[in-house]
Amino acid sequence: MKVTDAGFFRSLVRLADDGWRMGWHERNGGNLSFRLTEEELRSAEEELRPGAWVPLGFSVPELAGAAFAVTGTGRYFRDAAVKPEDTFGLIGLDGRGENYRILWGFAHGGRPTSELPTHLLTHAVKASLPGEPRRVVYHAHPSNIIALTFVLPLSDEVFTRELWEMFPECPLVFPEGVGVAPWMVPGGRAIAEATGDLMKRYNIVVWAHHGVFCAGEDPDAAFGLMHTVEKSAEILMKVLAVPGGKKQTVAPEQLRRLSEECGVDLPERFLRDKPGQNP
Ligand code: 13P
Ligand code: ZN
Repeated sequence: MKVTDAGFFRSLVRLADDGWRMGWHERNGGNLSFRLTEEELRSAEEELRPGAWVPLGFSVPELAGAAFAVTGTGRYFRDAAVKPEDTFGLIGLDGRGENYRILWGFAHGGRPTSELPTHLLTHAVKASLPGEPRRVVYHAHPSNIIALTFVLPLSDEVFTRELWEMFPECPLVFPEGVGVAPWMVPGGRAIAEATGDLMKRYNIVVWAHHGVFCAGEDPDAAFGLMHTVEKSAEILMKVLAVPGGKKQTVAPEQLRRLSEECGVDLPERFLRDKPGQNP
């Protein structure tokens, strides 16, 4: 089967195109990766042309031998639906998780996203967790959540609680909360390690003054996480822009009731009284 006809690939193209249409991917902004099953890789076998091994510069033994679909550095999500073999490539890791090689795509001299360290460290964390594997890691630059990182304290507790209050879907869609990383140089090991650490607890990590990383079971779930967190941020930005701000809000007790009646576990550390802030 042609890679571009495979079901997994088509859903990645759809995610990239949807993200572009949402306005989250100016120029080459954002990137995306997906861990293939052995069966998915086999289905693409006839088109694979393995290139030379390239050192990752770090090691992810948890992902030894794994294959990924990844967006290319400098490539535009706007082009994903038009020339997917330029926007995307497939890569395979060696048996030690220390080198990768291009298997398909990245036409015209492309190579994987500069955020590959964050993608792979997040995949490594998610691969070792129980439950349905989260095989999609998605990075975007949505305006409202970025704007919030200029006005809210950069803490997991504050972001989670404020985003949860905006509409009940939020605590249901991300009951484990949202992690917040301070501004760091993009594309490097340090930001990848900080994100990987937060991904042990969360599926959404906000990068201050930059964007969001999220991890979903499939492309639809990853898009849903990004969409929900950005919509919540948009409502909050509108509320904060009104003189006087919030006049009332959802109380911790109401969130506890939601947690009980909908059967989701909302950690108490996100439900504390807000000191000196009302509401
Ligand atoms: P790439 O073009 O290397 O994927 O970088 C885009 C980006 O959003 C960096 O954070
Ligand atoms: Zn970015």
